[in-house]
Amino acid sequence: MTNEMIYRGRYYNGSRKSLVEAAQAAMSEYRFQHVLRVEEMAVALAEKWGVDTEKASVAALTHDYAKERSDADFLAKIAEKQLDPDLVNWGNNVWHGIVGAEMVKDELGIENEDILTAIRQHTTGAPYMTTLSQIIYMADYIESGRDFPGVEEVRTLAFEDLAASVGWQTGHTLAYLIEKQVPVYPGTLLTYNAWSVK
Ligand SMILES: [Fe+2]
Ligand SMILES: [Fe+2]
Repeated sequence: MTNEMIYRGRYYNGSRKSLVEAAQAAMSEYRFQHVLRVEEMAVALAEKWGVDTEKASVAALTHDYAKERSDADFLAKIAEKQLDPDLVNWGNNVWHGIVGAEMVKDELGIENEDILTAIRQHTTGAPYMTTLSQIIYMADYIESGRDFPGVEEVRTLAFEDLAASVGWQTGHTLAYLIEKQVPVYPGTLLTYNAWSVK
């Protein structure tokens, strides 16, 4: 179904095929296949939750566009766009969403703020997320190639109670980061407080 999607130019000034090619050129085959699976899941969630599937497709295909860029590229973009100065203290995991959205905007010409925000928020989440942002956040986590304890449970949950699934993911991610004793980006804590606390 995804492959036959026709873009009507609402969110991307080109065909889906050209966007797929842009994604493929920007990353390894391994990651490109992940991106296609995220798109498939995002479109399914968009159908379920009444979000424009074209919008979900564009956001999914571009969410990891910047993932394989150099640290120097990200630092240059943080300076150029005068983004939050604290960002320089973090790394690729945080940058490829928050800073990557600026690269998607500047290099692919995607201007839709709903899509750019979904890209920005796809790793860390945020206290307020639109349905599209929740969909991209979840699709990245539960795409068909993912395999971790509880994945089936959270896949089902995303189609029953999207907000609860956002809380599930955030709580599990935070527990994992704490277990590994690695620093937690403050934005992730804000997401946890907003979505995971009962
Ligand atoms: Fe990502
Ligand atoms: Fe991803």
